[in-house]
Amino acid sequence: MNDRELTKKIKELKSKKNAIIVAHNYQIPEVQDIADFTGDSLELSKKCAAAKENIIVFCGVKFMAETAKILSPDKKVLIPKVNAGCQLADSITEKEVDEYRKKYPDAAIVGYVNTSASVKAMLDYCVTSANAVDIVKKIPNNRIVFLPDKNLGLWVKKNIKDKEIIIHNGRCYVHHKFTKEDIINARTSHPEAKIIVHPECLPEVVELADAVASTSGMIKYVKESPVKKFIIGTEEGHIHRLKKERPDAEFYSLGNAQICFNMKLTRLKDVYESLEKEQYEISLSEEIIRKAKIPIERMVNL
Ligand code: 13P
Ligand code: SF4
Repeated sequence: MNDRELTKKIKELKSKKNAIIVAHNYQIPEVQDIADFTGDSLELSKKCAAAKENIIVFCGVKFMAETAKILSPDKKVLIPKVNAGCQLADSITEKEVDEYRKKYPDAAIVGYVNTSASVKAMLDYCVTSANAVDIVKKIPNNRIVFLPDKNLGLWVKKNIKDKEIIIHNGRCYVHHKFTKEDIINARTSHPEAKIIVHPECLPEVVELADAVASTSGMIKYVKESPVKKFIIGTEEGHIHRLKKERPDAEFYSLGNAQICFNMKLTRLKDVYESLEKEQYEISLSEEIIRKAKIPIERMVNL
């Protein structure tokens, strides 16, 4: 089947099965375009929870589909590629969280949404890249263990001076590739452009950017800015989304376009097969769902 036929079949199956398709901002353009919603991981999970459909096809990586399942335990959540993981989420284990808990008993353990469901079940608070600074500011504890992303942790630390912040040494290999030289070169080639980078980038990159934002924050920034040229320091798939929001503006990747290979695994044919065979279902124990919901709800309530 070609892409046109696949798109038609996907639409038919979607309404026949009462399903919804959501896609992260880093997915390939064809998958973003077939989705009912595109967004960051938490935005999508909230959309799934509010949706009336019973089946959710989550085009993204596993921790995202798990977060959707935690927030929609009665729905069938499917991930088209069972092996789509996240190296950052894999950089923290339950054993390590346990060790932090024992070593710093007075600390609040704060975890990025990029964590597995079983790690989430051990957290005090969950945060996203969009709200990490605000949430950590509001947590009553003076000592915080922040995991798993070191660069996001350093960004939080830079913005919060009155708390002790202990940071896990995880990283996103995609965002880690942007360099200070990339920013210096971009300023020379496009002096009129605004440079926006993700907080998962290295501190020296974040330091030189015009704005630091999550993927949803970048969308908000470009929609509100009068500028017509932007340099984007995040996974290259996000430029497809940004162009849709600002068709009058020009977008360039910072340095070399960086790709998250797990985010590119899902093709239209996988979305079709996922709907047709109802595969691969995310299954979490009731206990993990109950426990993992607590840090997410605390974040939403703060
Ligand atoms: P956001 O879309 O939440 O900014 O996350 C970026 C990311 O790397 C997700 O894997
Ligand atoms: Fe994980 Fe980085 Fe890929 Fe996001 S871009 S899914 S953080 S590896």
